[in-house]
Amino acid sequence: MSQLESRVAARYGGALPSGDLPEANAVLDQLLGHRSVRAYLPRALPPGTLEALVAAAQSASTSSNLQAWSLVAVEDPARLARLSALVANQAHVRDAPLFLVWLADLARLESTAESFGEVAEGLQFLEALLVGVVDAALAAQNAVVALESLGLATVYIGAIRNRPEDVAAELGLPPGVFAVFGMCVGYEDPARPAQVKPRLPQGAVLHREQYALDTQRPLVRDYDAVMAQFWSSQGMPQAQWSRTAVNRVKTPASLHGRERLVEALHHLGFGLR
Ligand SMILES: Cc1cc2nc3c(=O)[nH]c(=O)nc-3n(C[C@H](O)[C@H](O)[C@H](O)COP(=O)(O)O)c2cc1C
Repeated sequence: MSQLESRVAARYGGALPSGDLPEANAVLDQLLGHRSVRAYLPRALPPGTLEALVAAAQSASTSSNLQAWSLVAVEDPARLARLSALVANQAHVRDAPLFLVWLADLARLESTAESFGEVAEGLQFLEALLVGVVDAALAAQNAVVALESLGLATVYIGAIRNRPEDVAAELGLPPGVFAVFGMCVGYEDPARPAQVKPRLPQGAVLHREQYALDTQRPLVRDYDAVMAQFWSSQGMPQAQWSRTAVNRVKTPASLHGRERLVEALHHLGFGLR
């Protein structure tokens, strides 16, 4: 098995998709080896890390070059502790040396319109929020790739959306700015390493010419078996991926506060028309 084949096989819990793969290269190797890390060493990041990751993030494509995103970098331990409390007490948010909050940012555009004495009515539509959210996500994932290339590790924190108004107050966000997700950054604790987590078989996510739903159920069942094996190899409690996934979306309460996101976004100045 080639180096790339081994990486791809690990991504699918052992099985290789059909078809030949290209030669390995450093970028594919790193992307396929991605792992979210939740246990960090208490070790400071080298100088220039933040500036490098921001330059990588700003290198991502951005809708109409509007650059409708920003980020807040948090290192103050007291603020990290308060943010941890706002994201269901996730310990890694408190323990990481750097926490990034990625923002959909319509405030800069609004203020630019004001500088012309104009009102940016287009920012009151759902589309404007989507532009900011997509831009923030693309920028953030570029940062992840850059950080991993520097030997650092990350984990996204979607729980930053559990209490949007409290997060906005903590970070001093003006109206029109929304924290899309957070991101812990640090050196992985080698005593508590994370493993590559298998994904759904390609047949479930890759559709050729037209979308097919009917063929997906057996593939989801196959993936349940792959994940059961993965969890058992990690010494984690046995679970069924499909059942766990359904539980995450079953009731409004399973959204952990995010079921009131529309209301929160209105409070934060988004029109969502
Ligand atoms: C937008 C987003 C939000 C996430 N939120 C959290 C979170 O709040 N806490 C956490 O521990 N992991 C979080 N994760 C990490 C996912 O659980 C993780 O990416 C997924 O289980 C796949 O594992 P891997 O990244 O190691 O491949 C988030 C990931 C994404 C993309």
